[in-house]
Amino acid sequence: MDRLLNACANLRELKPYRKELESLVAEQKQRLEQAKGNFQTFARKVEELPKLAPSQICLDTDAVKIGHFKDISESVRKELEKGLMGLCPWRKGPFDFFGIFVDAEWQSWMKWNRLVSSIPDIKEKRILDIGSGNGYYMFRAAAHDPLFAMCLEPQSAFYFQYQAAQKYLNLPNVFCLPIAHDTLPPMEKCFDLVLCMGVLYHRRSPLDMLKQIRTSLAPGGCLAVETLVLESRCHQCLFPVDRYAMMRNVFFIPDLAVMESWLARTGFTDISCVDITPTTVEEQRKTPWIQTQSLEDFLDPHDLSKTIEGYPAPVRAIFLAHVPA
Ligand SMILES: C[S@@+](CC[C@H](N)C(=O)[O-])C[C@H]1O[C@@H](n2cnc3c(N)ncnc32)[C@H](O)[C@@H]1O
Repeated sequence: MDRLLNACANLRELKPYRKELESLVAEQKQRLEQAKGNFQTFARKVEELPKLAPSQICLDTDAVKIGHFKDISESVRKELEKGLMGLCPWRKGPFDFFGIFVDAEWQSWMKWNRLVSSIPDIKEKRILDIGSGNGYYMFRAAAHDPLFAMCLEPQSAFYFQYQAAQKYLNLPNVFCLPIAHDTLPPMEKCFDLVLCMGVLYHRRSPLDMLKQIRTSLAPGGCLAVETLVLESRCHQCLFPVDRYAMMRNVFFIPDLAVMESWLARTGFTDISCVDITPTTVEEQRKTPWIQTQSLEDFLDPHDLSKTIEGYPAPVRAIFLAHVPA
């Protein structure tokens, strides 16, 4: 969060929001200092990770690479591996910490490749990533020299995985706030690109979220929204009785026409669906870096086109939507 404060002091583009962001950071720092439970446990685990200086970093490969195998001794590597294991579950990745390959549940480079080939050039752009997980995508974005990339991630494990990576990466223009999107102060016209991936179906009111995002985009700005969809154009939406693919808190899964209507009715123009991809067990699978089940356990074993609850199996789509210049 100190990186965000530095950016607020130094970047003309963040100065209009400086007061609100400074009080938000002060509030969140106080919350973390007084935190108990997971936030306290994970904070200590990151603090205990060995202090190391990577000889190199590489952000434009499938795995975010931090340091080289030869930078550290075998005993330090064992200590680091134990520390990183203590931050499980690693959902997004992979990462390579000094030769330790953190093989996350999701092969996130697959989504990154689908996204980056469609979005506008991000060099010197202001980016917001809502529900960033451990920051994998914004670390990859950093290879393209954005002005800054702000992540929002309310879940303790993922927020502190971000902290663990930043402990070694030290990227001055990538920040993360441990908050949900609706806690962010109004930052009208602040961002050139907002990413909202894997979050919309967790919201009770997707339209309110889209409206808030619309307000935060600068003229000419772009939203990339990735969500579970039904692959039809019948203006229908799935609202699961309870769980969907064993996930709690899944509310609306729109079909392609509904998603476009949501975007149009919240003020976006130039709307396009740039990718539709069924989620496969190649992309989401169990690895030693998660202790929970994964996609293959969430599908009907007799009919992989259905979830275990009998709904259509996960298909995700990326939509781009713009704010007029
Ligand atoms: C399914 S994951 C998607 C992660 C990543 N964006 C991706 O596409 O791979 C959803 C993430 O959004 C976070 N999240 C859920 N509700 C949120 C909210 N209201 N604001 C910000 N993040 C949220 C969760 O903690 C989780 O890390």
